[in-house]
Amino acid sequence: MGTAATPDCSIRHDSIVWLRVVNHIVSSVRIPFNRPYVAGLEAAYIEQAIEGMHLSGDGVFTRRANELIRAMTSSRAALLTTSCTHALEMMALLLALQPDDEVIVPSFTFVSTANAFALRGARPVFCDSRPDTLNIDDALIPSLITPRTRAIVAVHYAGVGCEMDAILQQARAHGLVVLEDNAHGMLGAYRGRPLGSFGSLAAQSFHETKNFSCGEGGALVINDDRFGARAEILREKGTNRSQFFRGTVDKYTWVDIGSSYLPSEILAAFLVAQLEAADRIQSQRQQVWTRYADGLADWCARSGATMPIVPAHCSQPYHMFYVVLPNGEMRTALIEHLRARDIHAAFHYVPLHASPMGQRFGGRRGQCPVAERAGECLVRLPFFTAMTAGEQSRVIDAVLAF
Ligand SMILES: Cc1ncc(COP(=O)(O)O)c(C=O)c1O
Repeated sequence: MGTAATPDCSIRHDSIVWLRVVNHIVSSVRIPFNRPYVAGLEAAYIEQAIEGMHLSGDGVFTRRANELIRAMTSSRAALLTTSCTHALEMMALLLALQPDDEVIVPSFTFVSTANAFALRGARPVFCDSRPDTLNIDDALIPSLITPRTRAIVAVHYAGVGCEMDAILQQARAHGLVVLEDNAHGMLGAYRGRPLGSFGSLAAQSFHETKNFSCGEGGALVINDDRFGARAEILREKGTNRSQFFRGTVDKYTWVDIGSSYLPSEILAAFLVAQLEAADRIQSQRQQVWTRYADGLADWCARSGATMPIVPAHCSQPYHMFYVVLPNGEMRTALIEHLRARDIHAAFHYVPLHASPMGQRFGGRRGQCPVAERAGECLVRLPFFTAMTAGEQSRVIDAVLAF
């Protein structure tokens, strides 16, 4: 076995230099919605994983990633997974949900937040959003709790914390489990405490669009020790292979249900390079966010659009920048106006309660008006770590000319 424990930082890779050259050429023409960021040591770490001859999961780089994620979320433990979607599916398995159990989710979220529970036969119960942060409206949660409710899922939209004090208090009062879908929120905090540390379990995403990425990846963050041992088993196809590798059992076997949620060392190596560069990545993203906020504040006030609201007790991780237009026609027109200038902006979630699948769970139009308005009127502007001031000026000037 090679020693990948102390990664060698000296290796320079032509491929990364070329990627930067290509990025430079491309950036003078089209402004994409997202451009993957290469922190610098990804290829070197992957090479070390190859030299170490351990390419399946749970090697040196996976363990390093687990520890970095654990520390960044101030949690008890973290397990790297193949996606945030899979971490959410693991939560549903860990809760041993039964058909017709209910899980309260925001309607304004990604499909996986609800689908992971539907996959186990549970019923997602859709909650509307708060008008300020677009997070789950904590004031509406009590009216959705029934004797079948098992859990509340807090999705920290754009990495701005949900009202965790209220949500935790409601969960305690009714004996419910709190789960966090923290796909956007790595390094965000609520009242000084890191997002990902509030729920019994939290799910992280390392998809290409996230602040820290390995293309496709995620993590299950564990804050309740009851779930730790079983999480390892579910992630390893229902076997106790993790215990076997630690030498605590002399052979491994099938002990529970499970699936294959463990990413390869190659992905873990890429991710470690990104997580280690967290300070630099976050300071670059903060600059991008602040330039948008400074450049667009007056335009928003003039045109009746709103900018993201970050309450004083939340600190955000600069995951995305969006504006909410006064109506859906203006939103569509702005996206087209930007596209005509080779700038790719995007809308966000089509509210789940009104989707064909959401309607099968009893959702109907008009049920979550704040989520419906956000789904119709919100535009996400291009936002990526290495976005240059020149690129951003082009986007800001184009919006001002709308
Ligand atoms: C709130 C939320 N949850 C979950 C996911 C799914 O993440 P992944 O692609 O890592 O499965 C996303 C995707 O962007 C998301 O926005």
